[in-house]
Amino acid sequence: MSIVRDPDLAPAGRLKIDWAARHMPVLSRIRDGLLKEKPFRGLNVGMCLHLEAKTACLAIALMEGGATVSVAGSNPLSTQDEVAAALADQGANVYAWRGSSPEEYCSFLRMVVEDGPNLVIDDGGDLVAMLHGVGPKRAESVIGGCEETTTGIRRLRAMEREGVLRFPMVAVNNARCKYLFDNRYGSGQSVWDGIVRTTNLLVAGKTVVVLGYGWCGKGVAMRAAGLGASVVICEVDPVRANEALSDGYRVMHSLDAATIGDIFVTVTGCRDVLRAEHFNRMKDGAILANAGHFDVEISLPDLAALSSSVSRPRPGVTEYAMSDGRRLYLLAEGRLVNLGVADGHPVEIMDMSFAIQALSLKYVTLEGKRLGSRVVPVPPEIDETVARLRLEALGVRIDELTEEQKQYLASWREQETASDD
Ligand code: NAI
Repeated sequence: MSIVRDPDLAPAGRLKIDWAARHMPVLSRIRDGLLKEKPFRGLNVGMCLHLEAKTACLAIALMEGGATVSVAGSNPLSTQDEVAAALADQGANVYAWRGSSPEEYCSFLRMVVEDGPNLVIDDGGDLVAMLHGVGPKRAESVIGGCEETTTGIRRLRAMEREGVLRFPMVAVNNARCKYLFDNRYGSGQSVWDGIVRTTNLLVAGKTVVVLGYGWCGKGVAMRAAGLGASVVICEVDPVRANEALSDGYRVMHSLDAATIGDIFVTVTGCRDVLRAEHFNRMKDGAILANAGHFDVEISLPDLAALSSSVSRPRPGVTEYAMSDGRRLYLLAEGRLVNLGVADGHPVEIMDMSFAIQALSLKYVTLEGKRLGSRVVPVPPEIDETVARLRLEALGVRIDELTEEQKQYLASWREQETASDD
């Protein structure tokens, strides 16, 4: 049984899913294998992911691999109701609608937990946290799972450190075919897609302040520069601050950046990155967007406390009128801008991320509790398989090492040709 906004939206959702599926050749190849092998036969997969078309393609691949699937959205604003309806129509248990209240969001997650998952796919750690919170019984029936994002892995590592994690979780985010593409190029494109379609404003000539120069921040900064913005980076890690300088950006303290920015993008995985002291310094008309996992990077309580009135000039835009007359514009209620007011990462990017998910879930199913109750890396062979399948799909050939080259690279002995030094 599913709980979706409107089951009649299913045909529209199916079209969206078909469109995504046509652009996911890697997942499609993996899906063919799962269909034959049925590695998930008899198992329930509990999923907490941004519920849009690419996610539906992953869920369908797992169902074809023999699983029953229960899905909740991983963010109240990222669920697309037509996709949820179509996925429910395909036979998944779907508990989600766009704009769910905090209570509804939790109750949907609880329904996934009550379906008794044997495997989990989480995005941000809420499902795993709930599985551990409802008592040991539920967690014991879980073989293991996969975590999609940086913030979820941070939380899992904290659970591992405290000795409370009760099953293995594969750190999908840390696979090379994930963060090098999804976090960097995926966020790079989709964050600007969200900001541009919501505001309909020009980026060229503006000062864009990116707070956090991790894998996502690098992509967001790179594409802002490509759109003609002057880019400023704020960081707390001195190495990454140096990296940003070497990449050609200005780096400064966030309180200095606050006075010059036209558009601010937080993407740190941290909290209160922009707060009252920043808002007090910002120019009239400054735009605030968050791309980090939770809506805590831009302090909403501080914005509310400083403003004399709040209005909605456009869908997805909240205007905070400050008592001194300045107006600040918050996008997507401070939630992930690329998923709250756009369609998330490009399809081809999620093809790779979800290919890693599907293969990692199969890995954890086969290895099971042998992996231990810890955060487990994605085996390098999975990364390589996904990379090769993608090149194959694109018709790109690459070189292979000869036997002599392999021996040379494996050897420590004196090399045949003396160096010039
Ligand atoms: P990362 O760990 O590579 O980078 C985060 C960076 O932020 C680090 O360099 C860190 O030093 C910096 N930072 C931390 N606190 C800061 C602060 N208070 N001020 C300034 N800089 C600070 O993480 P990654 O992969 O870039 O992810 C960042 C966030 O984005 C996470 O919450 C992650 O879950 C989320 N994410 C969002 C996606 C989306 O679709 N919008 C896609 C993938 C990840």
